[in-house]
Amino acid sequence: MKADGVELVAVCDIDPNKAEAAARQFGIPRHYTDVAAMLDGEKLDFVDIATRMDTHRAIATQVFARGIPAIVQKPLAPDWDEAVAIVDAAAAAGVEMAVHENFRYQVPLKAVRSVLDSGVIGEVTWARISFRTGYDIYRNQPYFRKEARFSILDVGIHVLDVARFYLGEVERLSCETQRRSPLNLGEDTATMMLRHTSGAVSIVENTYESRELPDPFPQTLLVIEGTRGAIRMNPGFRMVVTSDGVTSERIVDSPLLPWTAHPWHIAQESVLLTQRAIIGAWREKRAADTSGEDNLKTFALVEAAYEAAQTHQAVAPPQHRSLKVSG
Ligand SMILES: NC(=O)c1ccc[n+]([C@@H]2O[C@H](COP(=O)([O-])OP(=O)(O)OC[C@H]3O[C@@H](n4cnc5c(N)ncnc54)[C@H](O)[C@@H]3O)[C@@H](O)[C@H]2O)c1
Repeated sequence: MKADGVELVAVCDIDPNKAEAAARQFGIPRHYTDVAAMLDGEKLDFVDIATRMDTHRAIATQVFARGIPAIVQKPLAPDWDEAVAIVDAAAAAGVEMAVHENFRYQVPLKAVRSVLDSGVIGEVTWARISFRTGYDIYRNQPYFRKEARFSILDVGIHVLDVARFYLGEVERLSCETQRRSPLNLGEDTATMMLRHTSGAVSIVENTYESRELPDPFPQTLLVIEGTRGAIRMNPGFRMVVTSDGVTSERIVDSPLLPWTAHPWHIAQESVLLTQRAIIGAWREKRAADTSGEDNLKTFALVEAAYEAAQTHQAVAPPQHRSLKVSG
């Protein structure tokens, strides 16, 4: 499945077998093992960088230096300084960049945003947003075991982005981390408390070591309370909305598509919806909602969470200089 009007003209992987296999599987005419060779050999409108975070800066810098926009997978980088360097490199080259942050494009989470926009629960005052699972994510991504910064950077970053998407920017954040599996080098569980600039408070939770069954993987569960009502997302995509004392429930699942499969379908479809949103914004000559600068505000929460867990203090998220209010 491709985003409308997009043609995949080349694929690059340093592993020649993977490059060749991807080209064959997706009918891509040319494949490369070196990014510079691909950039020299092709005329590209944009590059989608889907390698791991430690390679993003080196690849993105080469792409931007040739005046080509890029979509970069989350997490943008291993740490704040490197994430800022990538965003600054795009700005210096005068090209668009966006981060492939896809949770906010999941059908159930978009449905929650629509309820908030409708105003039926009033002003949001409190929320709990949870991604708790014991699903064996290590099978496909065995490298997780060795990450010193693990679960907040991998999945907490999505949940923090959702918290910003619903409750706005954050003044301060506190965080407790746990390493519940001895097989993991870094934290596999985080419990964070956010004070938003609106005055709202949210609890953001993530774990890869829950033993509760049934396991809702990969669903994000939540409750959001407002001045007139509340929204609760229950397992099975059952969204319960209370407004002025009246409650209604509907299922906000996304349909199974020919290229999606349970239990991943919500996440898989969101990848397409994210690409569509980014490319659509660029076609309209505007920054994507998940632009580099927007995503730095989410990355700042990750950075604050690690600092808060270490210092046992509430931490104000760092600010990129272009985001600071002057005067
Ligand atoms: N948005 C999501 O929901 C989601 C889900 C899963 C993974 N991801 C992200 O996708 C990214 C990749 O994760 P993965 O598990 O597929 O990793 P992976 O290691 O399985 O795959 C990365 C591929 O990149 C290739 N590669 C490495 N360096 C390269 C270079 N310099 N040039 C070209 N190719 C290079 C590797 O050979 C490998 O085939 C990560 O940033 C991860 O966080 C996002």
